[in-house]
Amino acid sequence: MKIFLDTANLDQIREAASWGILDGVTTNPTLMSKENLKFEDLVREICKIVNGPVNVECVSTQSEDIVKEAKRHAKLAENVVVKIPICLEGLKATKVLSQEGIQVNTTLIFSPNQAFLAAKAGARYVSPFVGRLDDISHEGMDLVDQILVIFDNYGFETEVIVASIRHPLHVVEAALMGADIATIPFVVLEKMIKHPLTDVGMDRFLKDWSRVKKK
Ligand code: E4P
Repeated sequence: MKIFLDTANLDQIREAASWGILDGVTTNPTLMSKENLKFEDLVREICKIVNGPVNVECVSTQSEDIVKEAKRHAKLAENVVVKIPICLEGLKATKVLSQEGIQVNTTLIFSPNQAFLAAKAGARYVSPFVGRLDDISHEGMDLVDQILVIFDNYGFETEVIVASIRHPLHVVEAALMGADIATIPFVVLEKMIKHPLTDVGMDRFLKDWSRVKKK
């Protein structure tokens, strides 16, 4: 499973890249709004650090405007993937963009039918938001499971990005289901490394090592 980082923060992106585990980045308007750089400069900078897709979201609502905005985003760097929220106008734009070779990540997916339609329209990726479903007492990971079955049944090449991840167990479940990608907030990525028994084990090894007679 590929790991994307769900952030627009340059320090976090640089740090995760240095761990050798980073396959891509997802941003959204909320994440962008937390950073101080000008939008275009920030996207270019992220794209330089990341050796993989950098997802940049469109905020236009009419298909012609979405297409224009997506083309502007795609010109910023070769590894830009445009994110388009699922809606009728977004589907129309996805059809046009995918035919022109611009990769689309259909975002804000909350039902299997939304993912199915996005794939048919030519989306390269779909992003089901598991945490936001959990938040309203729906089982977010069930949605991922259903989408994976549907895509498998019909041989869609569209990749499933498990999004809105809240904790390390979401990542484990995504990997067990065979999801293509998990896009993970930095705090969750840090938690994935930790285990209390590892800390205890390292502590004990270091203490014992200090008693070893050095030749
Ligand atoms: C995905 O591409 C989105 O940026 C993200 O996962 C949304 O997560 P949130 O529900 O924590 O805002």
